[in-house]
Amino acid sequence: ACFSILDASFNGGETRFKQQDPIERSDFPSGFMFGVATSAYQVEGAYLEDGKSFSNWDYFCHTQGCSESGEENGDIADDHYHKFMEDIEMMHSLGVKAYRFSISWTRILPKGRFGLANPLGIMFYNKIIDNLILKGIEPFVTIHHMDLPQELEDKYGAWLDPQMQDDFVHFAEICFKSFGDRVKYWITINEPNLVAEMAYEKGTYPPARCSQPFGNCLGGDSDVEPLLAMHNMLLAHGKTAKLYHEKFQPEQGGSIGLVAHCFMYEPLTDSDSDRKAAERAMIFNIGWSFDPPIFGDYPKEMREYHGSELPIFSPEEQNLMKNSIDFIGINHYSAIYAKDCTYSNCIESANRVIKGFVEITGERDGVLIGDPTSMPRFFVVPRGMGEIVNYFKNRYNNRPMYITENGYSSPNVENVQFEEIVNDAKRIEFHKSYLASLAETIRGGADVRGYFLWSLLDNYEWAYGYNVRFGLHYVDRNTFERIPKLSAKWYQNFLKNDSLVD
Ligand code: NOJ
Repeated sequence: ACFSILDASFNGGETRFKQQDPIERSDFPSGFMFGVATSAYQVEGAYLEDGKSFSNWDYFCHTQGCSESGEENGDIADDHYHKFMEDIEMMHSLGVKAYRFSISWTRILPKGRFGLANPLGIMFYNKIIDNLILKGIEPFVTIHHMDLPQELEDKYGAWLDPQMQDDFVHFAEICFKSFGDRVKYWITINEPNLVAEMAYEKGTYPPARCSQPFGNCLGGDSDVEPLLAMHNMLLAHGKTAKLYHEKFQPEQGGSIGLVAHCFMYEPLTDSDSDRKAAERAMIFNIGWSFDPPIFGDYPKEMREYHGSELPIFSPEEQNLMKNSIDFIGINHYSAIYAKDCTYSNCIESANRVIKGFVEITGERDGVLIGDPTSMPRFFVVPRGMGEIVNYFKNRYNNRPMYITENGYSSPNVENVQFEEIVNDAKRIEFHKSYLASLAETIRGGADVRGYFLWSLLDNYEWAYGYNVRFGLHYVDRNTFERIPKLSAKWYQNFLKNDSLVD
């Protein structure tokens, strides 16, 4: 197979080869789980229906304006709350074997931790789970994907307070009790590392905190808060996993993992300092997220750099954290250059805390690392998929991994026409080339067990609203009709070969 050739062709590099050996389903192990992913706030809508209350995102959107345009929000989103049967049918016709979705905390516990669980909320997810299983689709459930009860934010500052750890466990326990007889794959928290950055350093996600007020962000302490919020999220994960492993797993027999936002950082130049900066960015991102739930503590490089500002796990907490995941969840979209800021001048030093004084850029000598997308820092760099998986394989002794998200959003064009959106040849090329890179790594021995394409359908892309489209299906914003893009047909054809290998 000619994977490097594929890379060259997609990146429009100097040598333009034709794709010679298309990637096929049979390039992956037969039990490999192909799926699609979404999250509650991004698709469900029905934001105050059937007993659901305000989440932090509902509150943020309604009080401050949450997307760039200031007008968009997830009140209706894709109306998945009412259209989930149609959406499950779409998945069935794609031929996916798994669906990764999240549970809206405020649908289950409208008041966070107080009061009883809402039976209508539980019923909604029961219907989803039962219908998935009827169609032979494995439910892969994220307990928390960005949206949390505003009540907990108001009462004590949510992730900034250790109380949140126990309140999260309480919510998770209800999920295990209600759904664990049928759900065999759990993810505690989606991208805690990104939440720490966006919500407590950059201030673009609720509760919109940052040191230097701008835009929506009114203040905070971004030297300390991202580290503290992450610490509480990691401990919430650890306590939940302990509960699951001790009380539910023996009977229910499932597994539990954590998902992080995983860029591949490459040095901007050959200099020693940039090479170290790229290594540092990897450690401060991947190691920050996965060293605690695997080894029981933060990477020593982070301890040296942050000193006492990095919270400490007590010996008991280290025990709790250690080996608290059964699998690693990798959300991977892009590779990006890392430039050292310790010994050289940087335009921005926003990544001082989170990345260890590293500037991130997609450009080297006027040339982009890969084709741009509508996400400012997401570039198309297929080799990054193989590189990041190998990084995990080496750092964590080849623990089981899932690619829990990977997807493409076309660059924004003003007045983009419907035809252009649905004839998404570039999305197809994106997935083919990333999958080729993944298949090569798996052949090299990496224990990757599944791949979830982000996303089943165009949806609410947080601060970027609805103009950033990752979907296999287009959603008409007036009628909420779902229209398959070319990429949906490609994925369907790709997955059809499944029968040949099963
Ligand atoms: C990661 C997040 O989990 C998801 O919510 C988001 O839509 C995608 N990345 C794309 O940015």
